[in-house]
Amino acid sequence: MNKIKRRVIYLSFPLYFGTICYYFTLKNIFNEELILSYELITYPLLFFTLLCLILLITFNSYHKIFNFFYLIYYLIFGLYVNLLFPFSILFFFYILKIKLSFKLSIILFPSSGLLLTLYGIYNSFQINIERIKINCPTLQTKKLTICHLTDFHLGSIIGKELVIKIVNIIKKEKNINLIIITGDIVDGSCPLNQDIFSPFQKINIPIYYIYGNHEKYSFINETKKLLNNTNFIHLSNKTIQFNNLINLIGIDFDFPHYKAINKMVKILPQNNLPNILLYHVPIFKPYVLKNWNIFLMLSGHTHGGQFFPIHLLQYYHYRILDGLYNYSNENFVYCCSGVGTNGPPMRTFCKAKIGIITLENNYF
Ligand SMILES: [Fe+2]
Repeated sequence: MNKIKRRVIYLSFPLYFGTICYYFTLKNIFNEELILSYELITYPLLFFTLLCLILLITFNSYHKIFNFFYLIYYLIFGLYVNLLFPFSILFFFYILKIKLSFKLSIILFPSSGLLLTLYGIYNSFQINIERIKINCPTLQTKKLTICHLTDFHLGSIIGKELVIKIVNIIKKEKNINLIIITGDIVDGSCPLNQDIFSPFQKINIPIYYIYGNHEKYSFINETKKLLNNTNFIHLSNKTIQFNNLINLIGIDFDFPHYKAINKMVKILPQNNLPNILLYHVPIFKPYVLKNWNIFLMLSGHTHGGQFFPIHLLQYYHYRILDGLYNYSNENFVYCCSGVGTNGPPMRTFCKAKIGIITLENNYF
């Protein structure tokens, strides 16, 4: 059984455990009608989740029907997770000892969970551009523009349509000097067809990439072959100079992360050009980067939290969630929420983004 299938099984445990917790909490604190509304929505959900789970394990990932059940499973899972948010509001009312009417309970619990899910699905397909300007005193030119892409998660749910959409956005941008992809290009949920990357052939801008955790999940050899056959340049634990302007230090995802840090230390360049570190996970705070003279770190992985309550857990873990973080305007971490989604195709508390970062030196 591959890693993705195991992951789906593990994800089911908190789901079933959550059902029991919901039930007993609601039973103790709310009226009969609310419990009934809860039962009506959760029991069919749980039944279908279990059914999908059995089918997912039964079918081979190479089979097209696997992708269908994978999508259904995550849509139900997403809806279920979204019920957590209104549930938290209900719990808040309970603490304040505010009794809710049946009508209001119905609006707050199942309906808002459903609306949140629909909004999350719609929002996950809207790709935004985040434009960032950073003053870089060691840059030996007036401007250098990097297009930062991350976390495509191409697989059972996300396909070529996303690649076409991204390429169309890039084509409209006139000043991009290089494109950097910081991992999770593939999801690992199913093997991919080489054709999925064909839209990128139309772009005449150098594209550099590193591996994220999902490149190492499943179908590792297929993924390697697939990416080797694209026009992307793999910066696998190596440093290159881009146009004699910046050093790109590419480190593939590794775990525990200290292994990646050890690899990075060995390939730190010995020149005065600005150092740009590419690592999938935002493990460094900006002030730590000062130790290695790294001007900018580009990361993804967090997906901006994607949905409640994952965004709280992500922030608690990394203290970096989405956007630009800096320390004394000398060292920067840019963590991009990415273009794709992991698991449910849903974003409720963050946007899908492409980062357009312009390094500037006004001296020129
Ligand atoms: Fe990711």
